[in-house]
Amino acid sequence: MSLKRNILDLRKRKEKVLQGGGEKAIQKQVAMGKLTARERVTSILDEDSFHEYDLFVEHEARDFGMEKKELHGDGVIIGTGTIYGEPVCIFAQDFTVAGGSLGLMHARKITKIMDHALKMRVPLIGINDSGGARIQEGVNSLAGYGEIFFRNTLASGVIPQLSVILGPCAGGAVYSPALTDFVFVVENISKMFITGPEVIKTVLGEEISMEELGGAKVHSEITGNAHFYALSEYECFEQIKKLLTFIPWHNGKKAKAFPPKPPKPEFKIEDIVPADPTQPYDIRNVIKSVVDDSDFFEVMENFAGNIVIGFGRMNGETVGFVANQPMVLAGVLDCDSSDKAARFIRYCDAFNIPLVTLEDMPGYLPGVDQEHMGVIRHGAKILYAYSEATVPKITVIIRKAYGGGYIAMNSRHMKADFMFAWPTAEIAVMGPEGAANIIFRKEIMAAEDPDAVRREKVAEYKEKFANPYVAAAKGYIDTVIEPLETRNMLLHSIEVSSNKADRRPQKKHGIPPF
Ligand code: HXC
Repeated sequence: MSLKRNILDLRKRKEKVLQGGGEKAIQKQVAMGKLTARERVTSILDEDSFHEYDLFVEHEARDFGMEKKELHGDGVIIGTGTIYGEPVCIFAQDFTVAGGSLGLMHARKITKIMDHALKMRVPLIGINDSGGARIQEGVNSLAGYGEIFFRNTLASGVIPQLSVILGPCAGGAVYSPALTDFVFVVENISKMFITGPEVIKTVLGEEISMEELGGAKVHSEITGNAHFYALSEYECFEQIKKLLTFIPWHNGKKAKAFPPKPPKPEFKIEDIVPADPTQPYDIRNVIKSVVDDSDFFEVMENFAGNIVIGFGRMNGETVGFVANQPMVLAGVLDCDSSDKAARFIRYCDAFNIPLVTLEDMPGYLPGVDQEHMGVIRHGAKILYAYSEATVPKITVIIRKAYGGGYIAMNSRHMKADFMFAWPTAEIAVMGPEGAANIIFRKEIMAAEDPDAVRREKVAEYKEKFANPYVAAAKGYIDTVIEPLETRNMLLHSIEVSSNKADRRPQKKHGIPPF
C-alpha cells in the first residue's frame, strides 16, 4: 500500500471508532441533555490540546454473544491534554458503548492513563458514565476495577485525582471516584449508587427512582460523596478549571502563584460579626474580607453547612480555610462536619497548602443521635487530621471556642504555629450558662432566688473565663488582635512559615479513626 492509501486507511479506521455506540445511542444521550464523551473531554481541555491513545483497542469478551459485538474503543476514551497550558491526563467513559461498562480492555486503558499520570506527576481527571463492572466479562471486570482502586490509592496524596460523574454510575464506577480527592456532580445528569433500582427491585422488592436513590442533590447534600454541584455540564467544567487554579500539580510542588490583590472593599471585617454573641453571621464574609480579591472557592458547599471549607489566596498563594459557620447549628462540630473538615485538612497537608482556621463554635453537638452515629470516632478524625498536619497552621478565634471544639479547631495543643484571638473571643470548657449550672448547682438550688443566683454565677464565670486573656496569659494564644489586623497577621504568619520544617517520629503510617 502506498503511504497515501495507508493514511486514508488510518483515517477510515479512526472515523469508525469516533462513531462510539452509533448515531441512535448518541441521540438517546443527547435527548437526556448529555454531551458525548469526546465533547466532554474537549470542553474541559484547552482548545486542540487533546491527544488520544488506545483508540484501536478491542474488547476480548467471548461469552454471552459478546464475540459478535464491536465496542468502539471499548467504551472509554483516554489521553493527555492541557488546562491553562499545564498538562493533565484524562479518561472519559462512553455510555453509548455498552453503557460505559468496564471490561478487561476498558480497565486496561484507564489503568494505562492512571500510570502515566502518576509517573508524569500530573493531575488525573476521570469522567465516569458507566453501569460498572461489565456483567458479561465476569471476574475480568472485577479484576479491572481492583487494578483501578489500587492505583487510586497509590496516587492518593501524590497527584490530584478529580472525578466527574456524568451519567448513571454504579458499582465500581462510584467506588473509584470515592477514592479520589474531588467528586463533581451535575443536576439531573449524575447518579451514583452501588446497586441500581433494578437490583433493588429484584432483591428487596422496592421501587425507587435513580434520582431519589443517588441523584446529584442526594450526594452533595446528604451523603457528602460529592464536593461540587453544578446545574450544567459546562458549569461543572468551569468548576474543574477553577479548582485547578488553586491546587498544585503534584505533592512536590506548590500551587501556582497569582499576582496579589487586596480584598474587595465591600467586605468590611469590622462590620460582619454582630456585637451580641448569640447572633449568627456568615463566616464566609469573614473569609472574603481577608482573601485576595475576596475570591473564596468553597468545597462541599451544600453538605454539613456548620463547617465551611475551601480555597482562597493570600498574597497570591493558595491557602486552605476551615471555618465554623455560626449560621448553621451555631457552627457546632458533629459527625458530618468532622468528616468534611478532616478530609480537607489532610488534602491541604498532602499538597503543601497552608491552613487557616477561623473559630466560632460552642463545641461538639450533644445528643443520642450523634452519640449513636459515632461522634466519638468521627469527631476524633479532626483531632487526628490537625495533629498530623505539618503545613503552616494558623488559627484565629473570633468568638466562641468551647470545650473539645477549642482543642479540635487547630489549637496550640494540636501544634498550631500561630494562634490569634479577637477581643470578643470566649475560651472556656463550656458556655457560661452550662458551666454555672454544673459547678454552682448546690448554691443555686439552695438559694431563695435561684434565678438571681444563677445569673450572678453565670456573670462570674463569664468574667473569669469568657475572654481571650486567660488563654493569652498562659501563652496558648500568641496575641489578641483587632479584627482589622487579621489579614496582615495572616499574611505575615504565612510568610514566616514558608520554610517550616516539622519532623515527626518515623513510622510506616498512622492509624487514623477512619
Ligand atoms: C454490561 C451494561 C451494564 C453492565 C449497563 N449495561 N450496565 N452492560 N454490564 N454493568 C448496558 C445495558 O445492558 C444496555 O445495553 C446499555 O448498557 C444501557 O443501559 P440501560 O440499562 O438501557 O440504561 P439505563 O436505563 O440508563 O440504566 C443505567 C443503569 C443500568 C442504572 C446503570 O443499566 C444498571 O442498573 N446497570 C447495572 C448496574 C450494576 O449493577 N452494575 C454492576 C455493578 S458491580 P443495550 O445493549 O441494551 O444498549 C461492580 C463491581 C465493582 O461494578 C465492585 C466495587 C467494590
